[in-house]
Amino acid sequence: MFALIRGGVRSSASLRVGLPVGCLRPASAAASEKSDVKSARVKTFRIYRYDPSNSKKKPWMQTYKVDLDQCGPMVLDALIKIKSEDDPTLTFRRSCREGICGSCSMNVNGSNTLACISRIDTNTSKVSNIYPLPHMYVVKDLVPDMSVFYEQYHSIEPYLKKKDSSEAGKDQYRQSVDDRAKLDGLYECILCACCSTSCPSYWWQGDKFLGPAALLQSYRWMVDSRDDFQRERLAKMSDESSVYPCHTIMNCTNVCPKGLNPGKAIAEIKKLLATTRP
Ligand code: SF4
Ligand code: SF4
Ligand code: FES
Repeated sequence: MFALIRGGVRSSASLRVGLPVGCLRPASAAASEKSDVKSARVKTFRIYRYDPSNSKKKPWMQTYKVDLDQCGPMVLDALIKIKSEDDPTLTFRRSCREGICGSCSMNVNGSNTLACISRIDTNTSKVSNIYPLPHMYVVKDLVPDMSVFYEQYHSIEPYLKKKDSSEAGKDQYRQSVDDRAKLDGLYECILCACCSTSCPSYWWQGDKFLGPAALLQSYRWMVDSRDDFQRERLAKMSDESSVYPCHTIMNCTNVCPKGLNPGKAIAEIKKLLATTRP
């Protein structure tokens, strides 16, 4: 069971974060601050916390101090340091710390990004605010529930489909250099969801609108010269909800930490829908 934060009502299992989350009560978190940090380069982080094991406790912002001289340069370094040395209950996802796996996506100082490739703002007079990805149900602290996002990805059939079954099991399908180049800027997507969760259309219709990440991936297979199902892939998107809620606001493209352009991919899908016969 999931529920939205609405007038203080919340579910026992998880919560959905909306923007702005600043309305949430800041921490009475002096308790977690380390008063013995002596460094001149002490940075304050305010981090969204939610404890699903305590249904009576509302989400809160917790403050931590980190000595930047004893910490790596990235936001993920600070989170790992806090978890290792200060508060082992702080929960977040991470794996590669190289901007490859997409698991450390979160909202840092108002923008969705990957914590592992996001530099800490070294201006110690400014507090860094860290939230989970916006408008997602929250499992715990900075961990959003990605189930719907992955279901949407699954729905676009993100794999090569051939019509001639005699070709099944071939070792390789050849592709010209030019056709291969059409996949550049598409195949690099790491499914971090920074784009979809920054999209206003996705916030309000995330159950129907596929969102920029799934649509970029869908376009990646539509334009793969080895795939035989472009027409069918398009037909599945010709309804009013899958693609058309995109209003080309381009938040998605602005935040993509891999420098991809999902807004353009969606525009290309719309063009194909307008020019391809069913
Ligand atoms: S361009 Fe479309 S998908 Fe991207 S943020 Fe705007 S509305 Fe959302
Ligand atoms: S398009 Fe960019 S922001 Fe969106 S899921 Fe892929 S890598 Fe992440
Ligand atoms: S830890 Fe893998 S992308 Fe950040």
